[in-house]
Amino acid sequence: MNINGRTAVYGIIGNPVEHTMSPAIHNHISQALGIDSVYVPFRADGNLENIVKGLYSLGVRGINVTVPYKTDIMRELIGVDDVAGAVGAVNTLKYTEKGFYGYNTDVMGLERELESEGISLSGRRVVILGAGGAARAAAFMCISKSPATLTIVNRTRAKAEDIRASLLAYARDNNAGITEDAVSTMEPSDITGLPGSGYIVFQCTKVGLYPDVDSCIINDEGFFEKTETGIDLIYKPETTLFMKRVMDSGGKAYNGLKMLVYQAVCSYEIWNGISVPENVAEDVYKILKGER
Ligand code: ATR
Repeated sequence: MNINGRTAVYGIIGNPVEHTMSPAIHNHISQALGIDSVYVPFRADGNLENIVKGLYSLGVRGINVTVPYKTDIMRELIGVDDVAGAVGAVNTLKYTEKGFYGYNTDVMGLERELESEGISLSGRRVVILGAGGAARAAAFMCISKSPATLTIVNRTRAKAEDIRASLLAYARDNNAGITEDAVSTMEPSDITGLPGSGYIVFQCTKVGLYPDVDSCIINDEGFFEKTETGIDLIYKPETTLFMKRVMDSGGKAYNGLKMLVYQAVCSYEIWNGISVPENVAEDVYKILKGER
């Protein structure tokens, strides 16, 4: 890496950021493509308005945003794209002449992971486990793919209902092909009652995340028999208990590492106005798989 007076600076803000893998991903892409830029972590503590103004004044070209700022950061931007506005969270800021503009590449990254794995949601029964920020992003990605049904399962049902209401409002405004009765909510204890089979399930809670590796949000065996494909947004451990249960019941399971890589790739593309070749994304994925 040859840092000079013209090197473009990018970074990630959050708290904590010590364990972020984003610098490894972005710096690898820059090196592979011969682009003169560097990506660094910024532990952001304090007044968000000042932080964003400071980054802008210094000409930082692009910023990723992680916990706990994905929603609060929206107040500091000149605008956000439609999906980020609907989800209510931003993870990517792009420098423009008037200020930073926001995007949500978590949604795009998950979409790209599904494409790369050859998973189509069209006409399928889909379940979202959880109703936090990650679940909201997954739910918005799903709604644009015309699933037959979408069921949001969460311990605190009111939060699932809240996502449902946002989804239906977005679907109405954007003519997404999903009806009100196709989107439902339930508590984990009621999951036995899910009709039919062939489900595609997104695990969007922190249950099962390292070091809590012996936990799984659902313990009902019948549910796993109905699950054809399970996508856990967790990538540490490599195989979560949720994934094991899906596979033990004959289903296919994926972790969240590809989503992580693709959300970074999508940010990189937004910032640089290029498309990152698939072989570069795959190299990054392999490197992270080895390092985790
Ligand atoms: P993020 O924004 O990163 O997705 P979050 O907002 O903390 O994270 O959301 C975590 C999700 O995991 C929530 O849906 C939470 O359920 P509640 O809404 O009922 O709090 C769910 N979750 C976390 N720990 C859980 C547990 N032990 N059992 C069941 N659900 C859990």
